[in-house]
Amino acid sequence: MNTEQIVRTIVEYFEERGHRRITGSTLLPPPGDPVLFTTSGMHPLIPYLEGRPHPLGRRLVNLQRCLRTTDLEEVGDANHLTVFEMLGTWSLGDYDGSMSLDWGYRLLTEGLGIDPGLLHATVYGGDDRVGPDTASLRLWQDRGVPVELTVEDNWWSNGPVGPCGPDSEIFLWSGETPPESTPTRDDRWVEVWNHVMMRHRRLEDGSLVPLPQRNVDTGLGLERLASLLQGTSSVFECDVFDPWRRLVPTLWPTDEPSRRLLYDHLRSAVVVLGDEVRPANTGRGYVLRRLVRRVLTVLWRDDPSRSLGDLPDELISHTLDHFRQEVESGDVRRLLLQEERRFSQLLERGRKVLARPRFQGPLGDEDFHYLHDTHGLPRDLVMSLRQE
Ligand code: ALA
Repeated sequence: MNTEQIVRTIVEYFEERGHRRITGSTLLPPPGDPVLFTTSGMHPLIPYLEGRPHPLGRRLVNLQRCLRTTDLEEVGDANHLTVFEMLGTWSLGDYDGSMSLDWGYRLLTEGLGIDPGLLHATVYGGDDRVGPDTASLRLWQDRGVPVELTVEDNWWSNGPVGPCGPDSEIFLWSGETPPESTPTRDDRWVEVWNHVMMRHRRLEDGSLVPLPQRNVDTGLGLERLASLLQGTSSVFECDVFDPWRRLVPTLWPTDEPSRRLLYDHLRSAVVVLGDEVRPANTGRGYVLRRLVRRVLTVLWRDDPSRSLGDLPDELISHTLDHFRQEVESGDVRRLLLQEERRFSQLLERGRKVLARPRFQGPLGDEDFHYLHDTHGLPRDLVMSLRQE
């Protein structure tokens, strides 16, 4: 099954059960929201999880593009992407968590053909404030799915304050040998679907109060599920990355970890540009700038004559099409090239400044401040230039 078929199967399954599909999925959170990017499918729904009636009703489904910078250091392992798509379903004060888990179980096994013997669940074990999630535990026991109880790993919140609650996560075995051990002890168990029983709100002082309604918020990582269903060893091998694997290695030969970084960061940069973010020294624009600079650092490490101007148009347009973005691929290429020129000039300036006698010895905080404020050289760039 390719990703498009997976999406169709899941969305139709929930539509048949009374869910309405939300359209629109920008990475930019609504105005006034403190986060830089949408990091989860529930993000645009926060007011509705807190009780405001949603115009489409109480059962919703959506495919939401998300960006997580917390995973930036993990890029290159088998399962983490900076920009990814999350299939989400919501019960806004409607059905309960057990119903959601049961549908999830049936969809994975009957709808998508996953062997039930390859599933493992985790469930919230309870602490002194919120008791164990016995309803979810019972559901999994009835289905014969092994369960591991945890505390921190099974509590989901979007940030320090706001809606939160215990969750039950469904893991799929990715090993070559028969399943063994448990999700917290063996990372061949890959998390595919998180079901959050979202019924609390955390306040500034850390206390929990009940939300006006009992919601369920679920999120399933599309590329991860596609990779497991397609039997590939990493998300970078699933069909989403077909054109990247076909075109990039011949254009810019490099090692496997660098290739993964190129695929992930370039694709993410295109999507962020597609949502009309522009490079800048702060906020969203700085995340974009860091993505492009990391790409260029990898490309130039192997061959300084490489340029993003050679990035095949197919990769830009394939990405914009996939994410249903209206921006012209020529504009994306122009912006990438502008950013490349800017970075190249910065590096040139940086090398000249760092060659001065003052910067030959160890650098202190004052030097870093001066280099940043007077010459626009961030600390991480100074560090990497000094290693050249
Ligand atoms: N909001 C939950 C998550 O992102 C479903 O994992």
